[in-house]
Amino acid sequence: MWYRKPMSVANDLIVAPGGALTGSIVIPGDKSVSHRSVMFGALADGVCQVSDCLLGEDVLATMDAFRALGVKVDNHGDGRLTVHGVGVDGLKAPAAPLYLGNSGTSMRLLCGILAGAGLPATLSGDPSLSRRPMRRVAEPLNAMGARLSTAAGGTPPVVLAGGGRLTAIDYLLPVASAQVKSAVLLAGLYADGVTRVTEPAPTRDHTELMLRACGVELESVGGTVSLRGGQRLRPFDIAVPADISSAAFFIVGAAIAPGSCLRMPAVGVNPTRTGVLDIMAAMGARIDHGAPRLVGSEPVADLTVHGSALRGIDIPQAAVPLAIDEFPAVFIAAACAQGRTVLHGAEELRHKESDRIAVMADGLNALGIGTEVFDDGIAIDGGQLRGGEIDAHGDHRIAMAFAMAALRADGPITIRNAANIATSFPTFVSAARACGLRIASS
Ligand code: S3P
Repeated sequence: MWYRKPMSVANDLIVAPGGALTGSIVIPGDKSVSHRSVMFGALADGVCQVSDCLLGEDVLATMDAFRALGVKVDNHGDGRLTVHGVGVDGLKAPAAPLYLGNSGTSMRLLCGILAGAGLPATLSGDPSLSRRPMRRVAEPLNAMGARLSTAAGGTPPVVLAGGGRLTAIDYLLPVASAQVKSAVLLAGLYADGVTRVTEPAPTRDHTELMLRACGVELESVGGTVSLRGGQRLRPFDIAVPADISSAAFFIVGAAIAPGSCLRMPAVGVNPTRTGVLDIMAAMGARIDHGAPRLVGSEPVADLTVHGSALRGIDIPQAAVPLAIDEFPAVFIAAACAQGRTVLHGAEELRHKESDRIAVMADGLNALGIGTEVFDDGIAIDGGQLRGGEIDAHGDHRIAMAFAMAALRADGPITIRNAANIATSFPTFVSAARACGLRIASS
C-alpha cells in the first residue's frame, strides 16, 4: 500500500483569452460521495472497497481524520481505497485535535458521528473553515444531548466534550443544508428513538442513498427523513460517479465558447444535484445526456456540451439548493449571456469557502461586467469580459470559474490565490489544458 501525494496547484494562474473546449475529459470523483464513502466505510462492520474516489485535499483530510480515530484506510493512489470499517461503536478518541483543512463537509459530518459515538475531540480548520458557521450543527446535536461548543461567533474550533447518550429529536432545518441534515442523521444512528429531520427544500440526498445501500432502514416522506437509532452498517463496495460540481466549470466553459463540443463521461446526475443543468438549459445551453444509467445507487450520464448563444434569466429559487456549489460557474455564464440574470434566495452563498456573492461581484466588476448585489443574491448584466486580475480569496470554485471566463475575455485573466483548487479538483489545470483552455501558472 502506498500514498499518493496530492497534486498541488499553483497559487497564481494566468489564462490566455479565447479558444474553445473540445474532445473528452475525465472529471474526478464526486466530493460529497467520496467523503461519505470514507466515513460510512469506517462505520461499517467490515472491509469496504471504494473506486474512483476523489483524492483532493478535502477528502484526504477526511481520510486522515478517520485514521486518527483508529480506522485503517489504504489509499492505493489511483482512486481506489480500502476502508477497514470498525463498526459504529469501534471509533477511538483521537490523541490530538483533528485538522480538517478547508473542508466544511468533513467538519460538519464528523460532528454528527463523534457526537453520536460520545468521543471527546477538537475539530479545527484553515482560515476559511475557521470563519464558517458551526452553530447550525452544534444546536441540533446539543438538543440531542451532545456537548459541543464552538468559538464565540459560532465558528471553529468545535470542541466535543464526549460522553452522554443521545436521544432522538424531530428537527426542522432552519436552512436547506445537506451537511446539517447528514450530521443529525448520523448522530441519530446512535440515539435512542427515531430521529426525524425535515428540510425546507430538497438538498443532496447522498447520505440517505448510501445509508440505505449499507442496509440502514431510513424513511423519506415529503421532505422528512427518519431513522431509528441502534442500526448497524453493512460493508459495501462503491464506485464514485464523476462530480457534477467539478463538471460545472467545463459545462459553462463549453457553453460560452463558440465552436465548443466537449464530452464528459459518467457524470453524476442525481436530481438533487442537477440544478446547474436546468439553469444552463434555461439560458439556452445545449447539453446532451447520453447513456443514462445507475452506478450503485447514483444516476450518471455522459454529458456533451456545445457552444451556444446564452440569454439572461431569472433563476428560480427552487433551483438554489440543487445548484448551491455551481453559482460561481453560473455567474460566468450570466456574464456571457445576452441581458440580465437575476438570483435571489441564495444567502447561503455568503457562507461557503468565501462569500461567493461578494467575491464573484468583485471579480466580475474587475473584468468590466456590471452587477447589482443583494443580501441574498446578485443581478449580472451580460457584456464583453475584459482581461484583468481577480482574487479568488482561496476559494477553489471562484478560481475555476474565472479560469473559464477567459474563453470569452478580450485579454488574459490572472487569478490570484487559486491553490485551493487542489481541495476538489487537483487535476483541473491539466484537464483544462487537454480540452483547449490556455492556462498556465503565472
Ligand atoms: C455538501 C453540502 C453542501 C455543499 C457542500 C457539500 C455535502 O453544503 O455546498 O459543498 O456534501 O453535504 P451545505 O450543506 O452547507 O449547503
